[in-house]
Amino acid sequence: MGLLIKGGEIVTAESRLKGDIFIEDETISAIGTGLAVPSDTVVIDAAGKLVFPGFIDPHVHIHLPFMGTFAKDNHAAASAAALIGGTTTFIEMCCPSRKDDPLETYHTWKQKAEGNTACDYAFHMGVTRYDDKTEAQLTEIVRDGTASFKIFLSYKNFFGVDDEEMFHTLKLAAKLGVITTAHCENAELVGQLQQLLLAEGKTGPEWHEPSRPEGVEAEGTTRFATFVEQTGATGYVVHLSCAPALRAAVDAKMRGVKLHIESVLPHFLLDKSYAERAGVEGMKHIMSPPLRDKRNLPVLWNALKTGLIETVGTDHCPFDKEQKLMGAKAFTQIPNGIPGIEDRVNLMYTYGVKRGGLDLHRFVDALSTSAAKLFGLYPRKGSIRVGADADLVVYDTKYRGKISAATQHGINDYNGFEGFEIEGRPSVVTVRGKVQARDGAFVGKPGIGRLLRREPQRKE
Ligand code: URP
Ligand code: ZN
Ligand code: ZN
Repeated sequence: MGLLIKGGEIVTAESRLKGDIFIEDETISAIGTGLAVPSDTVVIDAAGKLVFPGFIDPHVHIHLPFMGTFAKDNHAAASAAALIGGTTTFIEMCCPSRKDDPLETYHTWKQKAEGNTACDYAFHMGVTRYDDKTEAQLTEIVRDGTASFKIFLSYKNFFGVDDEEMFHTLKLAAKLGVITTAHCENAELVGQLQQLLLAEGKTGPEWHEPSRPEGVEAEGTTRFATFVEQTGATGYVVHLSCAPALRAAVDAKMRGVKLHIESVLPHFLLDKSYAERAGVEGMKHIMSPPLRDKRNLPVLWNALKTGLIETVGTDHCPFDKEQKLMGAKAFTQIPNGIPGIEDRVNLMYTYGVKRGGLDLHRFVDALSTSAAKLFGLYPRKGSIRVGADADLVVYDTKYRGKISAATQHGINDYNGFEGFEIEGRPSVVTVRGKVQARDGAFVGKPGIGRLLRREPQRKE
């Protein structure tokens, strides 16, 4: 039995056309107007609605042991929330600590996701140390279809790599033809500044940003770009938050470094005043790199509009209020992270496309197609074309609502975007032709998501 999505405005990263999409089994088999379809076809009326390719979140944390606790979510809830919000594929960070065995960690992450995830998914493999086993282990993981790495220049002694380890990781990535994503902050400066602030009795969440100022991120970005350049690797800066880091990344791009830039939902909509609120209200908004001075926000929006920022992820990383209060005596103990997997598409559509002058095609590109291309999922994902997976979002631009923890579907007791208005939300969401979400509710089958095998993108 086929599925027909009828009469919608089909919008991709490069085109717009009113028509029908016919789905057989798991893929798109025809696109056109007045398509002749078998009589048992299920019809979804998309008249008056936009139809987008399924959105891809290239940066999420679901299973995450971090800062003495675990991120709050699980794969069933996070994937249902993702789908309700229009995200049909996410890429989760698989993060061994420096003490963990990478292969064992990789299998743990796979086991957690398998059979529990309602949308499709992939992993970035975290490289958190480099020793004589690393090359063989990472080669095996890449052969298994996980063709991207993640390194942290911050979080010293936990996830963080030093320069020597970064060099070897990037050399191996170049040899294997995989892209390396990086959290770019100078770990030593963060550690020293944290100690200075605490010694002065500056313990509240408002001191988190001053402990990791913009220059600290710019330095990390510059250094990562230099190492990418000298190793011939391809790099991807995750969750870029401020103008000086953007300048550092763009400077590298201009000299031909293969460097790509992601920013994430909180950095477009929230500024550091949220983290300066007293007590747990501020703690809810602690992430790294931190929320910045508001003068950075228009810079990031402009960079997104012009394509300098290529992708928008969430850095979804939920910790509840009790966990945030682990840092009641010292901001350095507040678990870092702000959830957003359910809200990225609606908020970026509302504040970007509807209210901010973001081109609709650039929106699709930044929230879906670019990530598919960079991470080896295109054109199976991130496109609407014959043969592509039937991951589709029928989008209701007339919906009006507000973000609220009371109505969200992810596991957490707050929402960092509480009260933000939204103008639009997904009406129907399909994953490989199965209707998984409708009008703010999960209506599909849990656990049908597949781990997506990805091939290396380029070799040395
Ligand atoms: O604060 C954040 N971003 N938490 C998640 C871990 C990371 O650095 O991405
Ligand atoms: Zn990070
Ligand atoms: Zn992250």
